[in-house]
Amino acid sequence: MISINKVDQLYGGTQILWGLDLEIVPGSITCIMGRNGVGKTTLLKAIMGLLPIQSGEITMEGETLNKQSAEKRAYSGIGYVPQGRDIFPMLTVEENLRIGLPVRGKRTKGTLNDNPKDIPDKIFELFPVLKDMLHRRGGDLSGGQQQQLAIGRALVLEPKVLILDEPNEGIQPNIVKQIGDVILKLNEEEGLTVILVEQKLGFARRVGKEFRLMEKGRIVAADKMENLNDTLIKQYLAV
Ligand SMILES: Nc1ncnc2c1ncn2[C@@H]1O[C@H](COP(=O)(O)OP(=O)(O)OP(=O)(O)O)[C@@H](O)[C@H]1O
Ligand SMILES: [Mg+2]
Repeated sequence: MISINKVDQLYGGTQILWGLDLEIVPGSITCIMGRNGVGKTTLLKAIMGLLPIQSGEITMEGETLNKQSAEKRAYSGIGYVPQGRDIFPMLTVEENLRIGLPVRGKRTKGTLNDNPKDIPDKIFELFPVLKDMLHRRGGDLSGGQQQQLAIGRALVLEPKVLILDEPNEGIQPNIVKQIGDVILKLNEEEGLTVILVEQKLGFARRVGKEFRLMEKGRIVAADKMENLNDTLIKQYLAV
């Protein structure tokens, strides 16, 4: 569904992604793993259109995304939860969630059962805490609650593909568990395709169906999650 073909990316004069090839299977949960600085976030930003690529091609369902803005890619059904959450701290939870609604209205063209101008109830079923805190400022939520808000905001757009960059960084275990449950539920019940950058091995194994290991801006190993063995972990993940 998303294909990345021979993508090169540079920051200034420094090349970060090197002829990167990656195939995302529809309906899968793919964990992108690798040590700090190997280019995981850069890859996700390139998919989302937040960084230009030097060469190569990124396609979704056969259509090239290369020239599409990040906004256009959001219309096309890619949801993105950036590393470090990036919610609007001065806006309320409700205002943060509403930011995606204009895109949702345009995308769905009245095919939804509910009003596209409303935040879908589903978001509050998945993350009840957001309903309780609807009028709180984003910046006043705990780190874990902010992460749930960031995921909720991406889900308002009803993406076909959800991209998450280390959603569990610095978050307490019970919320990590909840986030994992939500990802699995959306994948199982709605067939949502998920691309997840994850450093925590336990979480990756619980949630991921496929893994891709990165080193120095390239994919160096790709397989089903059950085949992520100690040799690979030692070689590409252990610090
Ligand atoms: N805006 C930038 N300008 C220049 N170099 C950058 C920029 N952002 C990232 N880099 C460099 O690109 C490389 C890859 O960074 P990236 O953030 O993609 O790594 P990562 O795999 O996501 O790491 P982490 O696990 O720490 O999140 C690093 O060497 C980083 O220093
Ligand atoms: Mg990163």
